[in-house]
Amino acid sequence: MSSVREQVLRRKPVEPTPDEAHGGLKRTIGLIPLSAIGIGGTIGTGIFFILTQAVPIAGPAVIGSFLIAGVVAGLTAVCYAELASAVPVAGSSYSYAYATLGELTALGVGACLLLEWGVAGAAVAVGWSEYVNQLLGNLFGFTLPAALSNAPEQGGIFNLPAVILIVSCAILLIRGTSESTKINAIMVAIKIAVLVMFIVIGVQGWDSDNLRDFAPSGFAGVTSAAGIIFFSYIGLDGVATAGEEAKNPKRNMPLAILIALVVVTTLYVLVSVVAVAAQPIEGFTDQKAGLSAILQEVTGSTWPGTVIAAGAIISIFSVTLISLYGQTRILFAMSRDGMVSPIFAKVHPRTLTPVHNTVIVAIAVSLLAGLIPIDFLAEMTSIGTLAAFITVSAGVMILRHRSPDLPRGFRVPFYPVTPILSIAGSLWIISSLRVVTLYVFVVWMAAAVAWYFVYARDHSTLGRMGPGQIKQGPLV
Ligand code: ALA
Repeated sequence: MSSVREQVLRRKPVEPTPDEAHGGLKRTIGLIPLSAIGIGGTIGTGIFFILTQAVPIAGPAVIGSFLIAGVVAGLTAVCYAELASAVPVAGSSYSYAYATLGELTALGVGACLLLEWGVAGAAVAVGWSEYVNQLLGNLFGFTLPAALSNAPEQGGIFNLPAVILIVSCAILLIRGTSESTKINAIMVAIKIAVLVMFIVIGVQGWDSDNLRDFAPSGFAGVTSAAGIIFFSYIGLDGVATAGEEAKNPKRNMPLAILIALVVVTTLYVLVSVVAVAAQPIEGFTDQKAGLSAILQEVTGSTWPGTVIAAGAIISIFSVTLISLYGQTRILFAMSRDGMVSPIFAKVHPRTLTPVHNTVIVAIAVSLLAGLIPIDFLAEMTSIGTLAAFITVSAGVMILRHRSPDLPRGFRVPFYPVTPILSIAGSLWIISSLRVVTLYVFVVWMAAAVAWYFVYARDHSTLGRMGPGQIKQGPLV
């Protein structure tokens, strides 16, 4: 019987077993669709909706918040690229942590990923429901009653459109996801076109007076808004999770991450510049549906707003789909390792998808989306993602120290400055989140540790089989 210390620190082997090397996913994704995964999973509620919540905090200097959050996300994205090329197993940062920091930390990262993907799915769906109402209003002159489109804290009973979206995504995921990269590329084209349209039309409402009081709350306002804005960049690490399916990963993984980062950051900065120049701060305080309301204000007509709302509905749909998909994949990997119930790794023989897993995730995410307001959900997502980012950056340094000669398809430039800055940046953004978010996160982590000792430690596949015998089947 191994000691508790040995149990919590046991690590999965870094090198793939013969099964992993030959039984993994097919390398079918080229550079462009790989970049599209990063862009498609990232551009969604953040820019279409959360931007308008951040402006009252930072003022027009919200542009700086976008840059700061983009730099932190970018530094970590390259760390993901190195680990994805060095630890070629499925499961994203959960698996990297399992190979570098040990079983208990891996479970903690898995709990963070529940926040990153599961709670993000809920937050994104809530933003979607705002746009559905906007579109209904523009096209048909009516909106859903507040009781059916708001969380209880915001005066409603249940956010019905958000739940309908999640259920629709779950049905798609259950039926299969083989066409997802093609569909995703179409979604990405729509997202980019809609945001470019916003920039082109919105710039016509440019009024320099709106930029005069550039940072009304000073630098503190900018960093505080960066904490909220960081949500907009979540999803770039989706590129790294596709590491096993990427063609020529040594070249394409880092390149796709950089392309996605540059495209996303450029669009975000341009959209935020145009938005804050086109509308005074006061206009942002009362808004419910972000960018489309701005264009309606600028043009005095409803059609650009209608196009933005329709584009947002399509793009946020894809982010929800990817969030739910990511969540089910993480739980699938954790279940295979014995960290959560085996039900999450059960695959339906006909659809070849984890049906039980998807249904459970959809129910949990629907409850969150239906009952909790979006800003709290977004902050929980950000803190979970930032905590996972920190372990990935630490994982890069630990692996360089422990296995310096391990073949790596990509090496982080300016090592060790990049991972250190990435950790510092993530901690800095965490410190700007609300205290209640930090408390809830600590409770969540404590629950994960309790779960480890009550369940995972005894059910660990690694613990039962011993390292080297772990067999990883391909993901579905
Ligand atoms: N980055 C994603 C969004 O903004 C989660 O919707």
